[in-house]
Amino acid sequence: MWAGRFAKALDSKADDFNSSIRFDCKMYKQDIKGSIAHAEMLAAQGILDEADCEQIVGGLCGILEDLETGALDFDMSCEDIHMFVEAELTRRIGDAGKRLHTARSRNDQVAVDVRMYLRDEAEEITALLKQLIADIVDKAEENRAVIVPGYTHLQRAQPITFGHHLMAYAMMLLRDVGRLRDAAARMNFSPLGSCALAGTTYPTNRRLAAARLGFDGITRNSIDGVSDRDFCIEFLSAFSLIMMHLSRLSEEIILWSSWEFRFVELDDSFTTGSSIMPQKKNSDMAELVRGKTGRVYGDLVTLLTLMKGLPLAYNKDMQEDKEALFDAIETVKMCLDIFAPMIRTMRVKADNMYRAAQEGFINATDLADYLTRKGMPFRSAYKITGQIVAECIEKNCVLDDLPIEEYRKYTELFERDLYGEISLETCVGKRISEGGTSVESVEAQIDFVRKELMA
Ligand code: ARG
Repeated sequence: MWAGRFAKALDSKADDFNSSIRFDCKMYKQDIKGSIAHAEMLAAQGILDEADCEQIVGGLCGILEDLETGALDFDMSCEDIHMFVEAELTRRIGDAGKRLHTARSRNDQVAVDVRMYLRDEAEEITALLKQLIADIVDKAEENRAVIVPGYTHLQRAQPITFGHHLMAYAMMLLRDVGRLRDAAARMNFSPLGSCALAGTTYPTNRRLAAARLGFDGITRNSIDGVSDRDFCIEFLSAFSLIMMHLSRLSEEIILWSSWEFRFVELDDSFTTGSSIMPQKKNSDMAELVRGKTGRVYGDLVTLLTLMKGLPLAYNKDMQEDKEALFDAIETVKMCLDIFAPMIRTMRVKADNMYRAAQEGFINATDLADYLTRKGMPFRSAYKITGQIVAECIEKNCVLDDLPIEEYRKYTELFERDLYGEISLETCVGKRISEGGTSVESVEAQIDFVRKELMA
């Protein structure tokens, strides 16, 4: 490509080291679309003959089709996807192909390709996310009245509905959808026409090419246009948060599937056995998702570190952005894709959840609230309830089983109605505050998320 300036060919090891086609070939579609828009813009501006433009566009469409059908393979001896497409075009149509790179550089070309690639992938990821949210919401609806202990510090805290617990994840993932949307909106400006870094002397129309490629406008500074990778980092942080959320749910599913909890059972088709222990059923999918979270964080840190201290404008370091980005995209897609059916087929063991909720004094807050409603200051009620809990632990019984005579030794405010007030159904049913755990509150959350998914 640069034969003019160089007397010698690149050393073959250096050539391999320098080359990116083995991974940037993923962006062939975006690269070809970008080139078509560029050629048409050049023609519209009178920089390129209509006839040359027709040949170029025809040639590029042919290359795209042949790559898609498998009639054409990438030439791994080319340095990158941009060089490959241009070389193949020139091989096919001759001199007109050599005119395509007028008023353009690989620096703005790669910057526009990555944006378009990420735009397409973010759409796919958003669709997968929405599917998972929909499945979580369906599970939540089915289990909106199933009572389970809610935990803080992984200690039984207060009774909640399992639907309420699941809806917490729906909210997290819904924010992730919003984050992808925000990042996509900020990214959707075309750097094409920034050229190497300084712009061009040709009378180009950047906005024309940008509009053809579906961008909302152009980047306003050509140096920034070719050297900005903020959008990659924004998406990688959004992907990291998605993975963080999936890893938290994974961890819970792993715990819930354990013999100690037995709150859920994953379908056989999403679990594995052990090669030696015949009784085992392992939550490998959830464990892998939890594990792959580290990998996506690594991709984010790769890019942050890559960009740190880089002088303007383009530096070859930036070629290293793609593998990390592609890896994160593939990983997130795989994880979302496996998670949705895993949740859909997960069996909820409501009886075990209820049994667990009956132990652990998770209605103690409600007992204190009972006294407070009868006029006792909350702190005093809290103290008495603590003493009663201690007595129950001593007697190896639960609050619901302690006789009324025992209660009345602490205060005459206790009457028989206390048992109704501290039943799990009451504890859950009375928590009707917005966002709370009652069936009505959870149904409102479900409605909210379903509406957001449709919007
Ligand atoms: N393969 C390069 C990359 O991915 C394309 C841009 C190369 N530009 C350059 N001046 N060497 O970053």
